[in-house]
Amino acid sequence: EDAEKGEYRHYMLKEIFEQPVALQRTLEGRLGSVADLDGLFSENADLLHKVRNIQIIACGTSYHAGMIARYWLEALAGVPCQVEVASEFRYRSHVVPEGTLFVTISQSGETADTLAALRATSSPNYVGRLAVCNVDSSSLVRESELVLLTRAGPEIGVASTKAFTTQLAALMMLVLALGRVRGLEQARIQTVLDEMRQLPGLIQQVLQLDGDIEKLAEDFVEKHHTLFLGRGTQYPVAMEGALKLKEISYIHAEAYPAGELKHGPLALVDKDMPVVAVAPNDELLEKLKSNLQEVRARGGELYIFADRDAALQNEDGVTVLNMPPVPECLIPIVYTVPLQLLSYHVAVMRGTDVDQPRNLAKSVTVE
Ligand code: G6P
Repeated sequence: EDAEKGEYRHYMLKEIFEQPVALQRTLEGRLGSVADLDGLFSENADLLHKVRNIQIIACGTSYHAGMIARYWLEALAGVPCQVEVASEFRYRSHVVPEGTLFVTISQSGETADTLAALRATSSPNYVGRLAVCNVDSSSLVRESELVLLTRAGPEIGVASTKAFTTQLAALMMLVLALGRVRGLEQARIQTVLDEMRQLPGLIQQVLQLDGDIEKLAEDFVEKHHTLFLGRGTQYPVAMEGALKLKEISYIHAEAYPAGELKHGPLALVDKDMPVVAVAPNDELLEKLKSNLQEVRARGGELYIFADRDAALQNEDGVTVLNMPPVPECLIPIVYTVPLQLLSYHVAVMRGTDVDQPRNLAKSVTVE
């Protein structure tokens, strides 16, 4: 087992550091040119022309990937999209709009609730079922007409890392393929494709912040709660950051869309509640900054992962970790990585079983 982990102390850390290679594999042969997008689904490619709506179903970390994809699908491909956790979706009556593509996202392809939701897709309004999955021999893949494999390689750590970032890369390809059949300009698609190719290098740069993040982690070890904030696609990134911290360090963590702070969570903010914010240089940056001032004004300690051009400075109660500039469509993928590292180091310092956290399983195959 140790040989497989190589130089790394835990599988989780190894898998975090494998992300540049995993992403490279996910993108390989699929993004050379705009025309490559037509080959994504080979024999079933025609199906994309019938899609008028998307329903995404997933659990855990994979659900967060779906939430991010929703922003992309509506903004770039112009397709309405709903996202729901499988355990809720499967047990409620729901309306299926005509022309709905049913998309499942799963690392294992064996999650009981996700599979059950897939097996219940009997409405004639579904045009097809697509699995975004990391295991090509899985039940989910076998039972779906369309498949997008994430090619992350085996993921052993219970807390999902490389599976998540490769899911996002695969979902962006789906968004572009749909955009292409729905009239998204060729030049725009080409720009995103070019930006996607920067992904492995950008993640590599962020991994170099590991030492700084480890130092930051010391401030969280004795805490009982943490709040994660983000806006736009950074909201699901914040949710994923909070989930990671809960899963492996057992610190209670919550994520909020920063604009919602004033409707409740602000009441929790004091010096014992660290607040982690994800602040890329996007169109919501100024709004986020004013949300962060609300936290500071209540004595909350802020930890901000910010674009180095975002003009955020270290000051009393504010710790800024500078991130490289990132093209907008890659922001959620790149900004997830420092949050993975933060949780990892906090968990190691707290002495938990990082790869096998208590009460959790890698793949939940029973309800
Ligand atoms: C479990 C794992 C999570 C994972 C979730 C969904 O809860 O601990 O890491 O995100 O299942 O798994 P899936 O294989 O469907 O992505």
